[in-house]
Amino acid sequence: MYVAAVILAAGKGTRMKSRFPKVTHAVGGRPMLEHVLRAASEAIVPESDTPASGDAEDHSSTRFVVVVGHERETVRERVQWSPPQGGGLTYIEQEPQLGTGDAVRAARAAWRSEPSPDTILVLYGDTPLVRAETLRALLQEHAGSGATLTFLTGITDRPGEYGRVVRDAAGQVRGIVEKRHATGEQLAIPEVNSGIYCIAAAWLWSQLERLEPHENGEYYLTDLVEVAVREGQPIATTSVALEETIGVNDRVQLAEAERLLRERTLRELMLSGVTVEDPAATYVECGVRVGQDTILRPGTRLLGRTVIGERCEIGPQSVVRDSEIGDDCLVLASWVEESRMAARSRVGPFSHLRPGARLESDAHVGNFGEVKNATIGAGVQMHHFSYIGDANVGAGTNIGAGVVTVNYDGQQKHHTEIGERAFIGSDTMLRAPVTVGDEAATGAGSVVTRDVPRGTLVAGVPARQVRRVRSVGPDARPDHPPERETMTAESSPELGIQSEDVGWGEGE
Ligand code: UD1
Ligand code: CA
Repeated sequence: MYVAAVILAAGKGTRMKSRFPKVTHAVGGRPMLEHVLRAASEAIVPESDTPASGDAEDHSSTRFVVVVGHERETVRERVQWSPPQGGGLTYIEQEPQLGTGDAVRAARAAWRSEPSPDTILVLYGDTPLVRAETLRALLQEHAGSGATLTFLTGITDRPGEYGRVVRDAAGQVRGIVEKRHATGEQLAIPEVNSGIYCIAAAWLWSQLERLEPHENGEYYLTDLVEVAVREGQPIATTSVALEETIGVNDRVQLAEAERLLRERTLRELMLSGVTVEDPAATYVECGVRVGQDTILRPGTRLLGRTVIGERCEIGPQSVVRDSEIGDDCLVLASWVEESRMAARSRVGPFSHLRPGARLESDAHVGNFGEVKNATIGAGVQMHHFSYIGDANVGAGTNIGAGVVTVNYDGQQKHHTEIGERAFIGSDTMLRAPVTVGDEAATGAGSVVTRDVPRGTLVAGVPARQVRRVRSVGPDARPDHPPERETMTAESSPELGIQSEDVGWGEGE
């Protein structure tokens, strides 16, 4: 069975009341159309399906056809998905949009210059929750039963707007009736059309040419079921709970799909060993990975391509987007975006790691800190309201309360380099570009405008050299921290510095 998927995504989506095509709206952080493409791809191009498998030639041709309306470019921009090896993706424009039957007929053009697949899996782009295994079961039923047309039905006690599946007394499918054409009795049918079909291609292409339009001018794909019944073609079905094939036509259904997908994602995480304290208040987009024994506290949102290690605590009230967090980390009431946190590093409460922030192992960023495009070295302590941007902070350095890298001169951003085991006193302003050497120190309130040599204490506004920090010399052990008592600077009247100018930042 050589299967290709046709995904219908051309409908205007009027009920969404949106300037964007309906299928590009996201659930679980991904456009709906992308969910459908991923599921279809997992179902029809299994991993074993490499070009080495005999009929490789055929398999490298078109396997995914997306039928789009005039907003083709917007769809392509907003849906970044490329097919796996062994399956090409083609967009076909359907203009005007004359219904689901017309849309599949338009898809035929994808195989004008190459042989048509023998089986077409039709999916609607607004059905984002369908799982690959459900599609596989449908394909298996189709192949096993020898049916001409096999379709997936949803079972529900709220059939709402869906097309009803009409069966005869013997349980044989007679057709699909759209809600607006249904009789009172048919409206109560709890089995509805999911919009996912597996159809013998030759039969499909010939029948589409013969479909008659309804009085609203639309060609219904669903009419094919009745045609098959009339012709005595074998029909098969498989069923799932409607939750899995929910169709999204408006924003109420979008929120419903979001909730269902979130519940599914959290359930998978919990079953894999992640504690979710309050699933109703935890938001994890699909594609996020979380390691064993990590605890997600309420109000946590994990977004995009985030990967979190084992034994971490995230939240409460934290947002992590497109970031990599190692094992044993802590994120407390903070935002972490496009950042990396190495093992045992911590942030928060109330701090912000902005794009390009990197905390090395055991680094601590405490309250009201902000880090952007900067590396905070191993074991660095930065506990109270500091801004470190466009900078490197070496291992073991202490950043006192309120330290700021003054990285922007109004025109350009500049870099700050701080060495290892340095001691940056509280309220120090580091006017970039500037370098502070290893084991150097700055007094509280210093405004550092020039490079500070290693092992040197500076203080004042602008900061001037006060003395060498005694513990540092050519023979100082590299891991030897500056001794606290050596940091008490004497008055230096010739520099205009009073001893009280040289305070120290808070340590631990
Ligand atoms: C459709 C089915 C209904 C089913 C439901 C499942 C028909 C006639 N009805 O109703 O039986 O229960 O889906 O969710 O098929 N599209 C095009 N071109 C068009 C029209 C639609 O590409 O000309 C696309 C839409 O973008 C959408 C999909 O086809 O992704 C379904 O269209 P929609 O208008 O949402 O159909 P429903 O009224 O939901
Ligand atoms: Ca729909």
